[in-house]
This record gives sequence, C-alpha cells and structure tokens, in this order.
Amino acid sequence: MPAEEFVVTPYEVKGRIDYARLREMFGTQDLDAALLDRLRAVAGGELSPLLARGVYYSHRDLGAVLDLFEKGSPFFLYSGRGPSGPLHTSHLVPFELCRWLQARLGVPMYIQITDDEKYWARNGLSREETARWGMENLYDLLALGFDPKRTHVFFDSRSIAALYPLAIRVARKIPYSTVKAVFGFEPSTNIGLVFYTALQTVPCFWPSWAEGRTVPCLIPCGIDQDPHFRVTRDIAEGLGYPKPALLHSQMLPGLLGESAMSTTGDRADNALFLNDPPKVVERKVRQAFTGGRTTVEEQRRLGAVPEVCSVWALWRTRFARSDEEFAQVTRDCRSGAMLCGECKSKVLERIHPFYAAHAVARERTKEWAESTIVTTAPKPL
Ligand code: TRP
Repeated sequence: MPAEEFVVTPYEVKGRIDYARLREMFGTQDLDAALLDRLRAVAGGELSPLLARGVYYSHRDLGAVLDLFEKGSPFFLYSGRGPSGPLHTSHLVPFELCRWLQARLGVPMYIQITDDEKYWARNGLSREETARWGMENLYDLLALGFDPKRTHVFFDSRSIAALYPLAIRVARKIPYSTVKAVFGFEPSTNIGLVFYTALQTVPCFWPSWAEGRTVPCLIPCGIDQDPHFRVTRDIAEGLGYPKPALLHSQMLPGLLGESAMSTTGDRADNALFLNDPPKVVERKVRQAFTGGRTTVEEQRRLGAVPEVCSVWALWRTRFARSDEEFAQVTRDCRSGAMLCGECKSKVLERIHPFYAAHAVARERTKEWAESTIVTTAPKPL
C-alpha cells in the first residue's frame, strides 16, 4: 500500500491515517475552538484532557445537542465495546470522555457490549470467550467511575429481549446494498454481521422509545465507528427518532509504531492491556516505538517528533496530569531536552499507580455490575 493510502472502517484500520483527510472523506465536522468553548462553559469551566489535547477532533451535530442542553433538555451518552479480549488503554478513550461528561453534566450513560458482533467478526473466538470477555471488559469500563444509578448496559446476548422490538423496525429500514457499500462486505460475510449494524443503532433510539419522548443521543467513539452511525442517521427520522450526535476521536498509535493500538493477529506488544502485570508493562513501554533519533547527539541537536510517538500518545490521553505538564513534555521532547529513555521512565511512574488504582476500583464494580444490565423491553412495540 503506498505511504499516503490508508483504510478506516469498523472492521479494518490500515496505513498511516491522515486525520484531516479522513474527516473530509467521512464528511464530518471539525471540532473547533468555538465548540470547545461551549463545551467548557456547560461543563463548568474546564475541559477533559481528551478534548483539550485534541484526541477528539471531529463531530456530527454536537452544536445541536448543546443547544438543547442549554435549553434544559439533557441528552444521554452512548458508547460500546466489542469484547474480543482484554481491554487495552486505548479502549478506555471513549469511556473516559463519557465518564467525564457524566460527572460534569449528570447525564445517563448507555454502554453496549457486543459479544455477538465479535463472535461474528472473528473466526478464532468461541461464543464462551466473547461472552466471558464481555463481562471482564464491563468491570474495567465501569471501574472508570460511572455512576451506578445512571449507567445502563446492553449486553447483546443477554439484553436481546430489550433490544429486539426496536431492532425489528430498524433492520427493515436498512437495505443490503447499504451495508455492503458502507462496510465493504464480501459475498462470504456471514449474515450475522450483515444484521449486526441494526443492533448497534438500537441504543441510539432506545431511551426515546422507553420514555415516549425525544431524548437526544451523543456518542463519543473512535472515528472508525462513524460508518455505523451514518446508517443510523440516515434512517432515524423515518422512524420518528432524532439523529444521534457524535464526537470522534483519533485512533491512538500502537506501541509498535502502527497507527492504531490494535492487537488483532499476534501483536500483543502493540498495546498495554489492563491485565498486564507491571513487568510486562515495563517491558512494553521500554521497547515502544518513539519519535526519537538514532543517536543521542542527533536527538539533542534536532529534537524528537512527538506526533509519531506512541509514548507521547500515552501522556496525551491521560498520563499528563495537567495541560501545562503535557505542554512541557511536548516542548522537552521537541527541543531534545528530554531523551526517550527518560521520558519512558517518567511515564512509567504514572502508569504503575494508575494500574494499581484501577485494579482496586475494578474489584468493587463486581458488586453492582450485574444490576446495570438491561434485560427487558420497556413496553411492547
Ligand atoms: N462495534 C464496536 C466495537 O467493535 C462496539 C460498539 C457497539 C460501539 N456500540 C457502540 C462503539 C457505540 C462505539 C459506540 O468495538
């Protein structure tokens, strides 16, 4: 594949991604300073690091959702996870933003765990495995600090009775030609995956259905998931529901220097899994791909390149404690004042305590995780 080419779909991320071009190709809007100012104002004067540091960079209809919020009609948050294995730190990105928005704005959160999707999408995984990873992943996600009373989970295989009445109506609106074009399905693609996008749409409309009034939806997600919601947005009005708004993040670079922290295939060292023991975390960070130069002398003279560096991405998402600290790390990297070894030692000092605190929080969620799973439909449809 030529250097300037890349592919981003929900089922494939390949090549070095040009994010500005991707936004144009997808036809989404720039998350500009004016919108960030509005978000800061509704959130009480601060921005989440993920917003302030540009990890979220694109959106659809965020302005409309904020207009309604300011007039007293709150939205709900929706994001999801396809449980194909342990979570790694990049998987936390949408949920960290949701947690922040929930804490600031008091809005409900809906999480979808798609154990069906991952079984259909991955040949090597058994049903038992996707279901088991679904539960394990859910503990990790809830441990980020979601409010047990305002957080609801659709665990697809277990929540199907709650989802299906709406899925029936959604599925009828989606022609096969659309999913074939949008997701690039082949004649050999199994029909589970062909139907699946209907299930990913259902949570967007579910609260409106349950409450019998229009409840706006905001979806923080990786930009690779946008194709699903283009389908959703096309059919929403025909079903009498509002189009969901979206906030898109960039994909975070993998530790082996790839554009996304994907571990599909045999690339466990490309990501920091939340269940990696400290020694493994240490090893993966030490060997991680950086934007450094080949010799110390060169790096002192020319500086390094943070934009391509997988360790810089760790600072950027959550390990820099303040935007000032993040700016400092970036300056010291670019100027050559800080070498990669030192930078790695410093970030490890943040990662280890983060893992320890996460393990404790995760254990606590086991008492209430079950109670968040929605199993019944609100009413017949
Ligand atoms: N398809 C997503 C994945 O493979 C899971 C998912 C379901 C999702 N619903 C979502 C992601 C809503 C973002 C927003 O991981």
